[in-house]
This record gives sequence, structure tokens and C-alpha cells, in this order.
Amino acid sequence: MGKPLTLGWFVNYMPTGWNRPFHGGQPAAWQDGQFYVDMARTLDRAGIDFIMLEDSSVVPENYGGDMTAEFMATVKSPKHDPLPLAAAIAQATDRLGIVTTMSTSLYPPERLARLQASLDELSNGRAGWNIVTSFEDLAAQNVGLEKLWEHDERYARAHEYLDVVTSAWQGAVDHDGRFNQVVSPGSPMPVQDRPVLCQAGGSKAGMDFAAEWADLIVSVPVGVEAMKAYRDGIRSRIAESGGDPDRCRVLYMVTPILGETDEEAQAKRARMYSDATDNYLRRIVQLSNISEIDFSKFDEDEPVPEDATTNGAQSILDTFKRLTKDSSLREVLGNSGESTSLDLCGSPATVADQMEAAMEEVGGDGFLLFHGGGGIITRRYLDEVLDGLVPELESRGLFERPVRGGGPVAASGTFRGRLTGA
Ligand SMILES: Cc1cc2nc3c(=O)[nH]c(=O)nc-3n(C[C@H](O)[C@H](O)[C@H](O)COP(=O)(O)O)c2cc1C
Repeated sequence: MGKPLTLGWFVNYMPTGWNRPFHGGQPAAWQDGQFYVDMARTLDRAGIDFIMLEDSSVVPENYGGDMTAEFMATVKSPKHDPLPLAAAIAQATDRLGIVTTMSTSLYPPERLARLQASLDELSNGRAGWNIVTSFEDLAAQNVGLEKLWEHDERYARAHEYLDVVTSAWQGAVDHDGRFNQVVSPGSPMPVQDRPVLCQAGGSKAGMDFAAEWADLIVSVPVGVEAMKAYRDGIRSRIAESGGDPDRCRVLYMVTPILGETDEEAQAKRARMYSDATDNYLRRIVQLSNISEIDFSKFDEDEPVPEDATTNGAQSILDTFKRLTKDSSLREVLGNSGESTSLDLCGSPATVADQMEAAMEEVGGDGFLLFHGGGGIITRRYLDEVLDGLVPELESRGLFERPVRGGGPVAASGTFRGRLTGA
């Protein structure tokens, strides 16, 4: 497999431990950001490569046509802007990469170039940008547009957008496309040539974009075969355009469920994802948000009707017609967890075995840890992963934490240096 795994942690600046035991009193106190700053310190101490702060700027109304279900399930809201939090995290940590999400459809390029350059300076070269194109028309309406551009057109615009901001970081103003040139960037150049570029394209246009621009890709193909096909797809695109496929690392989203024994972990998993918890509501609201389909319109105790149609994501509707054919939406969603690449559950040793086997098959490059959509992260879960699973990966040589004063991964240096081993 070559290089050690890259490990990141994906999180949103939202209420923590919502409706969960072991919430640590945080559901009421999340807004001061202290939980996330503490979390970043803990990740830094454990040697995790980066924290990635998700963002979207709307309160979705997809499920049920208003905000009620969204606020009950806290899938995407309430949420604060990740950029100020990233600045606080930069001051509290030494080595952790800090990836913030900003949309090419919503930010003027000159604002983005300057904000990312400032974060890179504040963190001494540890900034990364999760490049998204957004998918909610409500977000477009926040900036005075009626709706977003079509999917592939958003990526066509994003290519030009990247030309503009990367030129600005090099001090050049040689662009004459549909965006304004950044004539006077207003802040010094970033510490790194450019912040680490991170992307999550899953479609053809998205993968083309990611292969052209990204240093780091975060993805959720489900199962080892799909993971391998996705990584191969990215690497062959890079090679075809004359690049070195190793210049980009592909990570897979996972939510390991850990226990002292496999049985304990399995019992925990069954409890977490049972109908007795708010799991079902969270899952169906989450699905409505990604697909822009109002799943409340269907009888949730029946299969999705064959003649149901949508102006949203037809492919998701078709998938759920197929999955619920002999059961119901409630059954299919109620007893399953996050949409992740691997179903990881067991003792730290068992989960490390599963991760190792998958990486051997796929070829690399690491994982994006994530404890559920929508603010259900707890300190207890962090400890299980960082003090249980990560040392297990380390003892097998799959992961190397930076050592002060040198070692396999230098304790100082830029985020890009850390990813490339330079
Ligand atoms: C791990 C991961 C994190 C993502 N984070 C965000 C985010 O913070 N904000 C956002 O608007 N979209 C986010 N997305 C959506 C992606 O940017 C992208 O739109 C999605 O993966 C679908 O791919 P496509 O655009 O090629 O169709 C994320 C996707 C993944 C897999």
C-alpha cells in the first residue's frame, strides 16, 4: 500500500450531541465554538492530519415543505459559519490541517482568494479549501439569484473560478473569462503556494474537476469495489493529462462503531440505528435534503409508489423505489446508519483489520472520519476513535503521527508538505 494512511475528521459547526446521551451539556453551549476548538486540540494531539469543516448556508425545507423537521433532526441547521471557527482552531493547534468549505457559486472569487490566504497565514500554512459548487436554490436566493446554474454548468464555472483564484495567489491577473479578475488581492500570498485544494466530486463532471484541481479528495463510494473504481477513475484521469496520480490522495468517509468487544460494538450499533432513536427522522430528512425530494409525500410504511415522480434527484427516487419494493421506507431507512464507504463495527482490532483489508484492495489513501450527519458528535466518540482505533492503526504501521523534532512526518511544516511527505 505504500505511504501511511491520511486521516481527516469531517464535522459541522452545529449543536453537538443533539438528543444523545453523553452530550456533555453541549447542546446548549455549542455556539461559542469551544467544543470544536477542544476537539481540534484533541485531533492535533492524536496526530490526525486535518479537520474538515462542512458548510451550507440554508435551513432546508425539503422534508414537509417547511423547517420543522429540519430543526427537530438538526441535519444541516442551525449552523454557524466555519471560517471564524477555523481561525480560532488555527490559534489553538500546531500541526492540524484546517479545511474550510466555500462555494464557487456563492463567493465572489476575490473574497475567497483573500479569506483563504488569510487563513493560510493565520495557521502558518495549514489551510485547505473544500471546493463545493452548492446544490440548494435557497442558497442562490440568499445572494440574489433566482436559482443555481445546472449541475455541469456549475462545474464549468468552477473551472474558471479556480483559474481566477489560483492566478490571484500567484500574483497574476491574466484571466478574461466570466469572473472579474482579482486585480488587487489585498492580502499577501498564502504560505503554501496555494491552500490544499480538497474536493468531493462524485459525478463525471465532478470527478473531472477533482482530478484536475484537487490535492485531496473526499468521497463516499459504497463498498470496496466501488471505492477502488472511484480511485482508479481519478488516477487514470490525472495520468491521461500527464500528471502524477500520486499527487492526489483519495479518502473515504467512514463512521466506525467501536466497543471493547465485537459483541459490544454490534449491540451499540443496533441500538444507535434502531427505530427507538431519532435515527429514522434524521435519515429521511438527510435524504430529502440531498435529493431535494420531499419524502414526506409518500406513505412511509409502504414501498415508494412506482408512479412517484420528482423534479429533484430522479436517481435517488428510483433507488428508493427499488430498495423499498418488498418493504417500506421506514424499514429501509430506520435500521441503517450513515451512508458511508464501509460498514465498520467491532473492537479496535477488528475495525483496524477491516480498514487494512479495504486499503490493501483499493490501494490507498486514507479515511475521512465522520460521526453522523448533523451535529451528533460527542467527546466520548472522539475518545473511542482517537484513543482506541488510531493507536491500533499506528501499531500496525498503517498510520504515523507527527513526532516533535522530526520523525517520519515532521511536526512543523505545511499541510501540503504533510500530505506529500515533503
Ligand atoms: C465528504 C463530503 C463532504 C462534502 N461537503 C460538502 C459541504 O460542506 N458543502 C456542500 O455544499 N457540499 C458538500 N459535499 C457535496 C459535494 O461537493 C458534491 O456536490 C457531491 O459529492 C456530489 O458530487 P457531484 O457534485 O459531482 O455530483 C460533500 C460531499 C462529500 C462526499
